[in-house]
Amino acid sequence: MPIPPEGRFTGELEMLPEDLPDNPFPIFQGWFNHAVAGGVQPNPNAMYLSTVDADGTPSTRTVLCKLIRPDPGAIVFYTNYESRKGLAIEANPVVSVLFHWDAMEKQVRMEGPAVRSPAAESDAYYASRRWESRVGAWASAQSQPIESHDALMLKVFDTVEKLGLDAAALVKDGPDAQVEIPRPPFWGGYRVYPRTMELWCASETRLHDRARWTRELVANGDGFDCGPWSATRLQP
Ligand SMILES: Cc1cc2nc3c(=O)[nH]c(=O)nc-3n(C[C@H](O)[C@H](O)[C@H](O)COP(=O)(O)O)c2cc1C
Repeated sequence: MPIPPEGRFTGELEMLPEDLPDNPFPIFQGWFNHAVAGGVQPNPNAMYLSTVDADGTPSTRTVLCKLIRPDPGAIVFYTNYESRKGLAIEANPVVSVLFHWDAMEKQVRMEGPAVRSPAAESDAYYASRRWESRVGAWASAQSQPIESHDALMLKVFDTVEKLGLDAAALVKDGPDAQVEIPRPPFWGGYRVYPRTMELWCASETRLHDRARWTRELVANGDGFDCGPWSATRLQP
């Protein structure tokens, strides 16, 4: 399928600079911002998240990157802490993340530990979501079996009732209905602190460009103190 010209990445960040910068985050953030602002694909903030289960089995799924914290350098996604990925992270906190913006011919890889976001950060994001998503977070025991989609819908209705919400008002006001719903204790954010980050971009010569940055992380109780990055150009 041809790539629409408007979806292609052009601009000063086309290739990695010859002198690699000390910190890869501004380049990553620039590519991410371009992907989001340019709408280069339906979910430009999508990332593939790989975890390793307690028994050593790897698994990968798509999640959405909802926040980039450039200092000290962490990215945030939201999920159910009791899902398969949540349980895997509890057992093995080190995860791998991959962004691929096909139309931009760019790829970003990261590896590092994931830790739960502070409650206030998760509360703020949860409160910003539409009520259907907030009810869904309560209703779906993510990754657990269920007999049918109808049974899931019944769980949603049941959840609306248990939360004491006015179902008729929700239906009348639709997605814009304004209601207060507390955040489920089993749902929230993870901050991924990359210990390594690799940036890859295609070149018209097909001699693609690739570099990896690494840094030390020292746990500090609720996150990590992050050492300086060191950069290495890699053969593609
Ligand atoms: C485009 C896209 C975005 C998604 N975003 C999220 C997300 O932000 N959080 C989430 O928990 N699941 C998200 N999902 C669903 C996950 O891919 C996955 O099915 C779900 O989290 C259960 O994964 P697990 O059983 O490995 O924990 C998304 C799926 C797609 C296709």
